[in-house]
Amino acid sequence: MAFLADALSRVKPSATIAVSQKKRELQAQGLTVIGLEMGEPDFDTPENVKQAAIDAIRRGETKYTPVAGIKPLREAIAAKFKRENNLDYDWTQTIVGTGGKHILFNALMATINPGDEVIIPSPYWVSYPEMVALCGGTPIFAQTKIEHGFKLQPDVLEAAITPKTKWLILNSPSNPSGAAYTGDELKAIADVLLKHPHVWVLTDDMYEHLTYGDFKFRTIAEVEPNLYDRTLTMNGVSKAYAMTGWRIGYAAGPIELIKAMDKIQSQQTSGTCSIAQWAAVEALNGPQDFVAKNKAIFQSRRDLVVSMLNQAAGIKCPTPEGAFYVYPSCEGLIGKKTPSGKVIETDEDFVTELLMTEHVAVVHGSAFGLGPNFRISYATSEDLLEEACRRIQRFAASLR
Ligand SMILES: Cc1ncc(COP(=O)(O)O)c(C=O)c1O
Repeated sequence: MAFLADALSRVKPSATIAVSQKKRELQAQGLTVIGLEMGEPDFDTPENVKQAAIDAIRRGETKYTPVAGIKPLREAIAAKFKRENNLDYDWTQTIVGTGGKHILFNALMATINPGDEVIIPSPYWVSYPEMVALCGGTPIFAQTKIEHGFKLQPDVLEAAITPKTKWLILNSPSNPSGAAYTGDELKAIADVLLKHPHVWVLTDDMYEHLTYGDFKFRTIAEVEPNLYDRTLTMNGVSKAYAMTGWRIGYAAGPIELIKAMDKIQSQQTSGTCSIAQWAAVEALNGPQDFVAKNKAIFQSRRDLVVSMLNQAAGIKCPTPEGAFYVYPSCEGLIGKKTPSGKVIETDEDFVTELLMTEHVAVVHGSAFGLGPNFRISYATSEDLLEEACRRIQRFAASLR
């Protein structure tokens, strides 16, 4: 009898973590490696949020909380959805989890039966297919194209739906492509879903506050209210408020689903950290100037990176609407040779050789289900980004 569970064989280790591991090995040899592989804002958590946590400790808010979260946070979440997304959720329709990842996992755990299908547009955040597989479901990949800005097209969605489809996972702005859907684009997706009442939508809006220029963020239940009864709107404080380590994610949706997620969580983690919950109340209810300030910084980094990458031979980099990622194509470099004679056959070869020769860590697109591309996280200083892009240009120019 095998000791480890069969479910484990369905899960792949994270490609992002594997690249980080290689980066650390090179750093341990004394090399200066620029890491552009991690999806984490480089800003510190705002001072008012930290203070709210300190105050919570001093007040003795250090005990177990209700499983779905403290009422003030659930009310702050309902108020956020009303204020920013024009969505009416009662506080009892909300749930707080240990990060957005936990919310997604519990939603899938609460709903997936063996053989259920979940449609995931490619390129996708690496955790979606793994979570679906762990829950016994089958990920169904719906390919997007660079010429459509990496956005799911209605006909591709229509073709992917079967009687076994349980969920469509939508992620806008997207990790890894940065693509964000306009209201009209979401409406076109919604129109397909309206024809298939058995399909639910799990919308991962983690990067909501990171969109640039005139782009207006919309979420699907707002655009198509007829989907409200089968949408789980998920969000969190990790990216918007630079709170990745605090582990607070949340969602709102139909009460029966929220109750099912609550039931799972009650036998799993219980309520998330009480102190982090009070900090999240301040993040959502307190001053929002932090968000606007960081957005401006990210936008100028995005513009720098897109412009420099488009000056690199063989690399084509679309301008994404949001998040802190770009997802350039390296198709123009496939088949070329490095000065040492190594042929670049795949995007994974490209990122490996880039790391080994120019010491820049990025993640290959095939890990996100669409290549030959690579993902750069620009959540780091402009100086480092400029230097990294110069190295990428030099590497691309060295290929023959
Ligand atoms: C698209 C997407 N969803 C969810 C998450 C998870 O966020 P959290 O850190 O709150 O678990 C991430 C984190 O990288 C993400 O990129």
